[in-house]
Amino acid sequence: MGFIESFRAVARFRRPEFDSTKRRLSRSASVEDLRLMAKKRLPAGVFHYIDGGAEDERTLFRNSDGFSRLEFRPRVLRDVSDIDTSTTLFGERRPLPLILAPTGFTRIADPQGELAVARSAARRNIPYGLSTLSTRSIEEVAAVSDGPKWFQVYTWKDRAMVKEMIDRAAAAGYEALWLTVDTAILGRRERDVRLGMTLPPKLGLDTIVEGIRHPAWTWGLLRNEPITFSNVTGMADLDGTSAVSLSEYINSQFDSSLSWEDVEWLRSVWSGPIIIKGIQTVEDAKLAVESGVEGIALSNHGGRQLDDAPAIVELIEPVAQAVGGQISVIADGGVRRGSDIVKALALGADAVMAGRAYLYALGAAGEPGVDHVLDFLTEGMRRAMALSGCQTVNDISRDLVTWRPLNRVPTPTTIDRRQAVASVERP
Ligand code: FNR
Ligand code: LAC
Repeated sequence: MGFIESFRAVARFRRPEFDSTKRRLSRSASVEDLRLMAKKRLPAGVFHYIDGGAEDERTLFRNSDGFSRLEFRPRVLRDVSDIDTSTTLFGERRPLPLILAPTGFTRIADPQGELAVARSAARRNIPYGLSTLSTRSIEEVAAVSDGPKWFQVYTWKDRAMVKEMIDRAAAAGYEALWLTVDTAILGRRERDVRLGMTLPPKLGLDTIVEGIRHPAWTWGLLRNEPITFSNVTGMADLDGTSAVSLSEYINSQFDSSLSWEDVEWLRSVWSGPIIIKGIQTVEDAKLAVESGVEGIALSNHGGRQLDDAPAIVELIEPVAQAVGGQISVIADGGVRRGSDIVKALALGADAVMAGRAYLYALGAAGEPGVDHVLDFLTEGMRRAMALSGCQTVNDISRDLVTWRPLNRVPTPTTIDRRQAVASVERP
């Protein structure tokens, strides 16, 4: 055999992938990979608005690091040939105990914004959460998704306006409401302060330079209609037509007198399930049960509000012990892998929510990126169940995980997170 023939016989050529998005996605193995892709593709202000947290970002870091403190106690020889990740949430069977957390201004990551995420979630029957501060409206999202949709409520001082939005969500077929209660005023996101971030992003010399450095993002922005707060379009000074800092907007428009009485009010204007998003203590979890709502989301807003609020994963067990079975307990914050979902369920959560995981994916590769990350989380959950000996979610019990002691050397994620914080240039 000549050289060419023998080379042909042993070499296996990879078919070239000409679609650059597909090529990048096929090589992205984790949420962290997608995060780094998003970091390259998005202007610094946009990336750090999504990626960052409040003040020293200790809570942001501990949310995801907390999961690495849990170790599996894998059981073997348990026939895991037929894994079933499905679960029942508020009376509906869902393929996965996962809900996409509501995040504002999604179009800054990709021109399709909320529509892309909602379509991807609908294809998998995963509930999609629309934020009050979305950049696609309640109706626009409903028009592209016949999947399950939940609506998140922020309370403007103008309560009639809030009621109108809730009525619109009901008319458009949204199934459940979150009332977010951790944002009486906005937390201090110091990366946004350093980068002068406004919403929508304001054009200055530095943003123009950033725009040139990120041409794909800039082209998407220029080719599409302006980014506004779509749910309040046309309402003077409220719709984001003029760029403002988020703290100016929230601190002037939102009602910081919100109290448990407002939960009663919400009940009087909405007949479906209500979930209080932002519960951070056992005491408030018990008050939520008394208030008669159907669910709580244990959440510190992804570490974006009060720094040194507790890591969510550490709250699950005490809260589940106190109120589990009386109310649905949803864990929100730090989920980056399917195995995190299994761990949260082992500690007593009924489901989890994820925000940044899909935002990084959207910023990295648009709608195919969201498809990629939802498949990644689904596969990761199946794998963790198979390798730890669980066939169904009912098999995921408390004795599946144990806590590791706190004092140990930093993990690679710890180091990377520190570098991320340090990488924002300081003036
Ligand atoms: C959020 N979050 C949020 N929550 C909410 O109730 N209304 C909102 O408009 C937003 N907006 C928002 C924007 C961005 C960029 C992020 C990252 C987060 C919080 C969100 O719903 C959820 O609580 C966290 O994202 C959960 O943490 P992980 O999954 O991002 O770690
Ligand atoms: C945030 C707001 C939109 O976390 O909730 O940035």
